[in-house]
Amino acid sequence: MYEDWDRLYAEANLLNVPRVEGEISCFGMGGSGVVCDILSAFYPLVKDMKFADAVIAVSYSGNTTETLQVVRRALSMDKRVIAITSGGILSTLPVEKVLVRGGEQPRYAFPFLFLPLVKMLRPDLVREVIDSVNAMEAKRVAEDLLSHVRGKIPVFYASTYLGLAKRFKQEINENAKYPAFFGEIPEVNHNEVEGYAHGDSLYPVVFSSSEVDEVTARLVNARVIRVSGMRDVSLLIQSAGFLSVMLAREMGEDPTKLTRIPEGRRLVERIGG
Ligand code: F6R
Repeated sequence: MYEDWDRLYAEANLLNVPRVEGEISCFGMGGSGVVCDILSAFYPLVKDMKFADAVIAVSYSGNTTETLQVVRRALSMDKRVIAITSGGILSTLPVEKVLVRGGEQPRYAFPFLFLPLVKMLRPDLVREVIDSVNAMEAKRVAEDLLSHVRGKIPVFYASTYLGLAKRFKQEINENAKYPAFFGEIPEVNHNEVEGYAHGDSLYPVVFSSSEVDEVTARLVNARVIRVSGMRDVSLLIQSAGFLSVMLAREMGEDPTKLTRIPEGRRLVERIGG
């Protein structure tokens, strides 16, 4: 897993995407939705789709109840909707589609979901995303982090690059079946930092891109990883994958298998899709 992302990115780069302009809202759940969070560092997204000229829905399976609900709401508001998906119910709805290859775990299919979004909103950054993937370097970063995370609960903090923090958390949760959390700077400076009086079991990491991020790092004595653009983000996303798989191995977990998430999806589907 994650070794051959240069191949996946090359495949994703062959996809044609529609032209989108103006105010954009972007959403999805889990490994799909996080691509919106990561991209928001590079393109200001609108939170309330009422104000959006176009709505981008990301769902690898195309069958995620929460995502389908938002798409139906967007369509009822006569919004232009563009779906990035491998199929499912989403591909049967009256939306514009970027159809990607299915058959992978959504988190592993990240290049298929992220690159079309970058192509749509920041085509000037496509090359940086692809060229920064580097399995050897990403593993080096992951191994170093693993040596500190071992036996602790990692907590990832960021301001601009909050999507990156969320991705590290998700990868560790899903692949290693291990607790991990993330928090937003500056909000955490006004509450969470006090918890570190009894925080010996935590390992805080700050993805820093500003002086305020450095304040958080200082308050909780965090490991600082400086991030200054798409090149760093692209490499670190791959590191998150490797770190979580390494941790999975140590935990005796199969990173490709999920149990609680599929059960949760089934239960939510029953509540009302
Ligand atoms: C990631 C994963 C989940 C899904 C989420 C939404 O690998 O398995 O986080 O991404 O349940 O499903 P999709 O991506 O199909 O919309």
